[in-house]
Parts: sequence; C-alpha cells; structure tokens
Amino acid sequence: MQHIKINVGLLGCGTVGSGVAQVMLERADHLEKRSGIRLELKKVLVRDAAKARTIPSSLMTTCPEDIIDNPDIQIVVELIGGLDPAGEWILHALKNGKRVVTANKYLLAHRGSEIFSAAAANLSCVCFEASCGGAIPIVLALTRGLLANEIKSVVGILNGTCNYILTQMMHNGKPYSTALAEAQQAGFAEADPYMDVSGLDSGHKLAVLASLAFGADIRPANIDIQGIAALQDVDLRYARELGYVCKLLAIAQQQATGVSLRVHPALLPVSHPLASVNGSYNAVSVDGSVAGRTVYFGRGAGAMPTASAVLADILEAAMNATVPFFASHPLLNHRQPVAIIPPTEVHTRHYLRITALDKPGTIHDITGVLGRHHISISAMTQHEARAGAYVPLVITTHEAMGGGVTSALAELGQLPCVSGEPAHLRIWDDYE
Ligand code: NAP
Ligand code: HSE
Repeated sequence: MQHIKINVGLLGCGTVGSGVAQVMLERADHLEKRSGIRLELKKVLVRDAAKARTIPSSLMTTCPEDIIDNPDIQIVVELIGGLDPAGEWILHALKNGKRVVTANKYLLAHRGSEIFSAAAANLSCVCFEASCGGAIPIVLALTRGLLANEIKSVVGILNGTCNYILTQMMHNGKPYSTALAEAQQAGFAEADPYMDVSGLDSGHKLAVLASLAFGADIRPANIDIQGIAALQDVDLRYARELGYVCKLLAIAQQQATGVSLRVHPALLPVSHPLASVNGSYNAVSVDGSVAGRTVYFGRGAGAMPTASAVLADILEAAMNATVPFFASHPLLNHRQPVAIIPPTEVHTRHYLRITALDKPGTIHDITGVLGRHHISISAMTQHEARAGAYVPLVITTHEAMGGGVTSALAELGQLPCVSGEPAHLRIWDDYE
C-alpha cells in the first residue's frame, strides 16, 4: 500500500513542542504503521537559538518564514502560546494553504471564530484537540461522537496545574507555593502560571468547549471566572470534615433562559465521580439529550499527554479528513448567538466560614441576615473556642441565588459580631 508522506513544521519547541518533536523523530515508523502516514519533521522554530535541546540543530530556526512560507511544509503546528504572534502566524500559514494544528486555547477562546472562518475560506483546517483536556479526546467527542445530542451541560476539571496543587494541598498537606513550583517543574503550568491559578486557562478551555457544545460564539468575557490563589488551607480542612473535596470546576449549563458559564473552586461530595480525579488528571462530564451523561478522563497537562493529542491532530490533518469538515460544520463556523445567564441568577449550594464573636445573640444576627436574603441553612458547625473572643462558624446552605448570597456576604462582613470578610465557596453536588 502507498503511504502518504507529509512534511511538518513546528512553531515552538518548549514543553509540548519538544514532546511532539521527540515522538516524530523517534517513533515515525510506529506512527506510519498505525496511520499509513509518514511524517517528516522539516523545521522547528524557537526564540532562543542558544538554548540546549535534544532536537538536531539542523532542524532549528529562529525565522518563522522558514516554516509558514516554506513550500515543502504541508502542516504547521503552533505550540508557542499567547495571542500574538501565534495568531498572525496561523492566519499567514492558512493563507499559504497550510493545514494547521494548535494547542493554543488562549488564542482560540478569543479569536476562534475568526481563525476557523479563515481555515474554511482557505479550504484548510485548524485542528485543536490538544487545546482542552490534554490527552483526552473531548473535542472529538463534542464534534463527532455526541453530534446527535443537544448538549445540556459540560462540567469539567480542565486545568492540570490547579488540580495538582489542590491535590497536594488536600492529600499531602503541601503549601500552595510548593505545589505550584512542582507543577511548573513538571511542565504542567503555562509560561505565566497566573493563567492557571487565576482560573483564566480553565475559562479559555470552557469557552472553546462550550462554543462547540452549544454551537455559539462564547468568549472568556461571557464566563464568571474565579481561581484558586485565594483559597485557604483552613477551608479545605473544614470542607474535608464535612465530606467534601475542593476542585476547580469549569461549568457550562444550558438552562431555560440561556447558558450559565462559570469557573470557580467548588466543594464536591467525596462520592462525586469528579472528586477522585487527582494530580494533573482532568475529567469532563457531558450531559447529552440522547446519550445521557458521558465522562472523559485522562492526563490534562504535560509534554507527552499533550503530544498525544497534537500528533493525533497532525495525522488527522494529514489525512485531509478535517478540511471538508471545516467548510461546513456549524459548531465551528456559522455559530449562533446565545443568551448568557448572569452569575447573580445562578442557583447553587454554598459553604460559608464566618469568624464570629463568641457571645449570646451572634447566631441570631447571622441567621437573620441569611434569612432576609432567602438563604436556607443546610448545616452549621461551630468549633469550640480555644483562645480569643472569636470562633469559626461553618455553614452550608441549600440552593440559593448567587445575587442573594453576594448581598448577604457583604452584610455579614458589616455585622459588629463578625470579624473580616466571610470565606465563601460554592458546592457542586449535581450528579446521578
Ligand atoms: P513553553 O514551554 O513555554 O514553550 C513555548 C515555545 O515557543 C518555546 O520553544 C519558545 O522558544 C517558543 N516561542 C515562544 N515565543 C516565541 C516567539 N515569539 N518566537 C519564536 N519562538 C517562540 O510552552 P508549552 O507549555 O510547550 O505550551 C505551548 C502551547 O501549548 C501553549 O499554547 C499552551 O497553552 C499549550 N498547552 C500546553 C500544555 C502543557 O501541558 N504545557 C498542555 C496543553 C496545551 P524558546 O524555547 O526559545 O524559549
Ligand atoms: N497549564 C495547563 C494546565 C496545560 O495545567 O492544564 C494544559 O492545557
């Protein structure tokens, strides 16, 4: 059988790029055996030519035109990250008739529609499986496997760095800063780890996945985003006592009046399927009108898990299968507008920790505020005072409206019997 030969150029050779290059150079025979495609790595762009690398120096360049204008290269793989110059180089490569693969969720969340339209206009494609969920084929699931479904919700742990940090803090008692340094060392974190811990990276991935799920042009600005940097050990400990673990969740839900989109740390019952997703693993649960709930699980970050998804995209682009898909697929092009439900109108359960004065009448004042905002208490624990005049009062609520809880928190912070701002986390216990 005649195998297809395809030449590839890599823009970027950091954590992911070096993993992709290593597999292409060392496992070309194996890739050919499985796919019928012979990949040849032609050029690799880096910023710093002097950095020590394992890739042969003959392949390296610091000139992007050696790849995006190179007539010998059919597939351009963008693994630089960020909005620019990555976006401009992708558009340039498409105009030159190249097929493109990218892992850049930041770029796709902000300029996905423009880039997918450019791919269609140039009879090309931009494959992006590695942009969400590392090794997990979630883009494939939403665009192919679940195509017969109206998607009701996509709920996931979408950031390996945050999940690694929270796992190390909760299960191994490591400080936040130590766990973050380990995640960076392992190659899970973004070049600027603020993108991870601020929740922005999860927000970018949610924008990409929710756009596919609902056929809508969803941008990061449509998403209510809160990260993990302000989390306190004490809340992870109290949550554990109550039978919860804390995860950074990305949630997209289709509701009667529109779509609710949010990223925030959430307390999950230990028995929840997502509660046991630990370390750099990610998981995504998709609720479809025909399939019901399906769950996808795998390594969400790091060189080789991400290289697996990038290489699958390179092989798919090499087969040319995705080009007609780009021209006509309404989940990628011709996306529809969608109403966004504001966070104030989202109903969830809540966890509150209030530093309360240990004297008669305190509970009365606090529950009065909650009652006035229609917030019903599910459980309340006060740890015995060992020293000082204040005690931690931990409250979980029944479902309450986001806006009411925000107003109640502001009022509680003003009570003479409360010290400082109450700590607040949302509870996610929606599962079959
Ligand atoms: P990285 O380690 O920071 O590597 C970036 C690479 O791009 C480096 O080789 C760098 O060159 C090169 N580069 C950056 N700006 C450049 C410029 N202006 N001109 C030429 N070269 C430039 O990043 P990464 O972790 O591999 O991530 C790459 C992309 O994959 C990002 O979009 C990221 O969000 C995404 N992603 C990462 C992971 C992960 O686990 N790390 C997983 C999924 C998706 P030098 O080597 O010379 O510095
Ligand atoms: N920094 C990202 C994460 C890489 O930790 O999940 C994978 O997209």
